[in-house]
Amino acid sequence: DEVARVDALIAKMTLEEKAGQMTCLADSFRPFNPPNPQVGIQDEKRLADEIRRGRVGCLFNGIGVAGARRAQEIAVEKSRLGIPLLFAGDVIHGLKTIFPVPLAEAASFDPDLCQRTARAAAVEATAAGLHLTFAPMVDVARDQRWGRVVEGAGEDATLTGILGAARVRGFQGRDLRRDDSLLACPKHFAAYGAVAAGLEYGQVDISEETLRETHLPPFGAAFAAGALTTMAAFNEINGVPATADSELLTDILRGEMKFRGFVFSDYTADEELVAHGFAQDDRDAARLAVLAGVDMSMQSGLYIRYLPDLVKSGAVPEGTVDVAVRRILYVKAAIGLFDNPYRSISEEAERTRIFTPAHRALAREAAGRSIVLLRNEGGLLPIDASKGQKIALIGPFGEDRANLYGPWAFYGDPDKGVDIASGLRAALPDPGRLTVTRGCDIDAPVAGGIDEAVAAAKAADIVLLAIGESQAMSGEAQSRTAIEIPPAQQALADAVAATGKPVAILLRHGRALALHGGVANAQAILATWFLGSEAGHAIADILLGKVDPSAKLPVSFPWESGQEPFFYDRKSTGRPVTAAGQTEYKARYATTDNSARFPFGHGLGYTDFTLDQLKLSDSALRWDAAIEITVRVTNTGKRKGSEVVQLYTRDRVASRTRPIRELKRMERVTLGPGESRTVRFSLSRVDLEFVGARNRRIAEPGDFDLWVGQSSVGGLKGSFTLFADVPAKA
Ligand code: IFM
Repeated sequence: DEVARVDALIAKMTLEEKAGQMTCLADSFRPFNPPNPQVGIQDEKRLADEIRRGRVGCLFNGIGVAGARRAQEIAVEKSRLGIPLLFAGDVIHGLKTIFPVPLAEAASFDPDLCQRTARAAAVEATAAGLHLTFAPMVDVARDQRWGRVVEGAGEDATLTGILGAARVRGFQGRDLRRDDSLLACPKHFAAYGAVAAGLEYGQVDISEETLRETHLPPFGAAFAAGALTTMAAFNEINGVPATADSELLTDILRGEMKFRGFVFSDYTADEELVAHGFAQDDRDAARLAVLAGVDMSMQSGLYIRYLPDLVKSGAVPEGTVDVAVRRILYVKAAIGLFDNPYRSISEEAERTRIFTPAHRALAREAAGRSIVLLRNEGGLLPIDASKGQKIALIGPFGEDRANLYGPWAFYGDPDKGVDIASGLRAALPDPGRLTVTRGCDIDAPVAGGIDEAVAAAKAADIVLLAIGESQAMSGEAQSRTAIEIPPAQQALADAVAATGKPVAILLRHGRALALHGGVANAQAILATWFLGSEAGHAIADILLGKVDPSAKLPVSFPWESGQEPFFYDRKSTGRPVTAAGQTEYKARYATTDNSARFPFGHGLGYTDFTLDQLKLSDSALRWDAAIEITVRVTNTGKRKGSEVVQLYTRDRVASRTRPIRELKRMERVTLGPGESRTVRFSLSRVDLEFVGARNRRIAEPGDFDLWVGQSSVGGLKGSFTLFADVPAKA
């Protein structure tokens, strides 16, 4: 069996071969070539030699069957033990068919959709020779200044866990040995989303409580869904870099969370222990990382350079190295690589499974389901195309394909994406009534641009203003001090607003934004993020009412940048604002309300829903029982539509203060006009647990509030009491 096979191999391996299996390098085989020019050995002969000598176990960030075959042939046929290579890559939201960035797709609040797009991404990635993706990112992003907000599921731990697990299931499929199963790597372990002030690679000073309450649970969900690898985070936590944190990578990850797969370092993160001021030198860094529990070193080459000697000198026990190698080889065995080293290396699959019409249709569906209608005064949208209105599409993103995909889509061909203007032209019965004007560049005015835009707005019946962030403004290493529309575009928006024409804003962005002036006051605002290959079609579908908006914000849009870090599940404090207008000696900024402009969970549709008849099966929740919560949802508008009904709770009094609200359940319902449905939720004691004294998860008897609503604000309110009538078993 696999265990015996792996053990037999380990018994034969030299120390150098063991360190080789623990080494992952960016590839430079062509066409299996790196999309990122500054990575890789950049010397194909040298890399071939490394593979032949068993000094590398995993290649990453190249794609293509021809290169994969050549590399694998060397590993299998020319290296002493013939151990196959693992091919990894950052397939974050699609390979060639680009799906919405993960943050956008999180707005669907729909695990099934996330699972389906992850599956399609896996089908394409494995057709291009890959076995593993460095995804999903399940870091909970508490500060929108952090650029990597775009890669996760937003500010809430529960939503991040649910969608992260769905993505793991989607990537991996039902059978890991199938040639279209792509190993998932939930990352970055841990608390990367808590870097102080959103500063990339920055420090994390965090309580055990918050670490365990907010940042670890999504990993638990992703591991429970079957993920077999994870990646240590770049950041330090309370003074210890995650890459060298044995309490985190061994005691918590292995001991408590029972993770059985293997841990990658992030890109050269072991080497960076020196710059952190945690390791003396590279050799010391390799020692610290392996002892902490990093099994596979990414890109630095530190393990192959230093591990053999560290073992020989007694600084690292050989048993530690063996454990790491065993974990890596088990994963290779689990995906069937020993039986078929050429799995996922098929020229036919590469020809037929990538950028297919079915995947593009799914990309269009996913993009439509990711667009959040933030405001729609006077029912400005949808546009009734049959009325033949003159539409002015204004702004730097109207006819721009360079910023459709968002970060981490480097395998996608930007020329194959559909921009907004093309999407509208394809959908409008009379495309001649659409004018397209740039107005300004993303971060600079253009001479005469505003005058031209104002003239176009004046000549139109409705203005669509496509503004926001470039894709280079979010993603890794793209922290910002302010989360606002760049000044040139703000000036454009203000000038267009002054024409008095009805304006619908189409925001392009990878994070929540603080909106001002002509943007904030527009009649309609849509969050359109980075939607991928089918962006323009999906935006046209929504604008023209072919698809009803049904997405909800996975991140709160604050009033001001300075409210960050901002998240809805904050604590009450001793001086909460309890009524509108309170200013004196309250926990608030002097100039800004504590609320969000658009809260977490908010999102409108083209029809209206009301909730009523909230009922709890009991006002008492017994220790080992459950209560059922029901609510009637009615579509009171004139069109079919979907609503995401959300259930939040609050523990009124606890031995550790609890957030003012916590998302516990969500359910998507689609109803025709006038139709009603009863939605049912069930809650048990386990749902009310939190991290209590000595960091144990506990529930405490007492009173709880609950809200069932359409966002994290308002909703129908109920309450119940949890009774400890069953004594905890000794
Ligand atoms: O997977 C990524 C990670 O998220 C950030 N650093 C580089 C890795 C590999 O490309």
